[in-house]
Amino acid sequence: MHHTSNTLSEAVRARSIDLLNRHLAAAIDLHAQVKQAHWNVRGSDFGAGHRLFNSTSVKVEVYTDMIAERAGTLGGTAHGTVQAAVERSFLVPYPLGVSDIGQQSSPCQRP
Ligand SMILES: [Fe+2]
Repeated sequence: MHHTSNTLSEAVRARSIDLLNRHLAAAIDLHAQVKQAHWNVRGSDFGAGHRLFNSTSVKVEVYTDMIAERAGTLGGTAHGTVQAAVERSFLVPYPLGVSDIGQQSSPCQRP
């Protein structure tokens, strides 16, 4: 763990960094899933869905950055590679292929 002026105990910071990295993996996964939806949405409301998924991906990216930087602030290391995300994400995999906007389900909820 890196030196920091944070006053939390090392145990609390270590637990927080681990939790942040689990959620960083999920956020990276979510960003990729939303872009997957953006690229493959079809149907009568294609335009609205295409824009919605794109703007959502931008918001997810902002929060991903906040999660990663918080891990660093607490003296940890952000585990932000795609490979790390694959190992640690707790999201249900998003289906590959084309999706009809009328049939979309949330990629972040378990069935
Ligand atoms: Fe695009």
